[in-house]
Amino acid sequence: MADLKIKALHKHYGPVHAVRGIDLEIPAGEFTVLVGQSGCGKSTLLRTIAGLEDADAGDIEIAGERVNDVAPKDRDIAMVFQNYALYPYMTVFDNIAFGLRARRTPKSEIEPKVRRAARMLAIDHLLQRFPRQLSGGQLQRVAIGRAIVRNARLYLFDEPLSNLDAQLRDEMRGEIKRLHQELGKTMIYVTHDQVEAMTMADRIVLLREGRIEQAGSPLDLYERPATGYVAGFLGSPAMNFLPATVDEQSSGPAVRLTPTLSLPLPAARRGALEARRGGALTLGLRPEHILRAAGDDAREGLVRYSALIDLVQPTGSRTYATFRLGERDVVAELQSHDVSRPGEKLDLALDMNRAVLIDPETNRVI
Ligand SMILES: Nc1ncnc2c1ncn2[C@@H]1O[C@H](COP(=O)(O)OP(=O)(O)O)[C@@H](O)[C@H]1O
Ligand SMILES: [Mg+2]
Repeated sequence: MADLKIKALHKHYGPVHAVRGIDLEIPAGEFTVLVGQSGCGKSTLLRTIAGLEDADAGDIEIAGERVNDVAPKDRDIAMVFQNYALYPYMTVFDNIAFGLRARRTPKSEIEPKVRRAARMLAIDHLLQRFPRQLSGGQLQRVAIGRAIVRNARLYLFDEPLSNLDAQLRDEMRGEIKRLHQELGKTMIYVTHDQVEAMTMADRIVLLREGRIEQAGSPLDLYERPATGYVAGFLGSPAMNFLPATVDEQSSGPAVRLTPTLSLPLPAARRGALEARRGGALTLGLRPEHILRAAGDDAREGLVRYSALIDLVQPTGSRTYATFRLGERDVVAELQSHDVSRPGEKLDLALDMNRAVLIDPETNRVI
């Protein structure tokens, strides 16, 4: 059964239409990530679910019950905010225990619950400290502890890691995911960071301007984006986009980038373009689908291209190489030692089996 059901939800702030018709069902136990650019309505949606904002239209159901008119404290929701919102004059113990006391939990139950949550988050040695005596990462753990100590039906996180430095963020991503596996609770996690969304989610809901652009498992969205927007949002370095036209070759439709450069498609991809001959097209190629050509590689769909590399960016595990393809600069994600310096000529293979073909009028994937 869906733990949370949202139907035709709208929210305005004066003239700003922040949430523009969201329909969403979240099954019990799922870890859902709401992701999208800053300002797309993620926090508004989360706060409306929590009851901190009133919906202008639509329904919010929790466990089958409409909660639009239920007070936040009675919605059985625990929330972690970006700014932690801890009480400065309370110890860590009292901060974590606060929600339990407010709900009149018997005293004998409070201490074991707080200690268990603190142990899960490795802050059990900090229980007598005050927030000012803690690092950013420790503060974040206390804020998470305060939410998970409660036996709520739904746990909401609003960009909880964005104040942490990169290394700590990586670490906490794994910890929150593990926490979800241990607790098996329904969690909704908001972030603008596509890496967080990809690595943490059971299901990603990608928002754009107050609407759902696409929802699905991380690899679903990554490998089968519905629109050019989704294709460009997920992935780092981002997908390369090239303006093109549908060209007719003896083998069937191909992707023409310039008068002198046309990329043939494998047989399985040609059908989609039959009806679009001569029409405009955007070709999407992920950096990892541009490979260093191997001498004997004759696999269907690999198109050889002799590239003049003009920028080389090693990350250690991979090297990003920029070169001109058609009228655009594109990035290839190569093996670390495939390329060493700008100015080098390199035989590459473009994997057209994985190419994303986009209708430039509608921005929908063909
Ligand atoms: N309290 C508010 N008053 C007026 N406008 C707001 C308020 N909160 C958010 N907004 C506007 O609503 C839109 C969505 O904001 P928000 O939900 O905070 O986005 P996100 O969390 O995705 O960054 C933005 O245009 C933002 O400026
Ligand atoms: Mg926000």
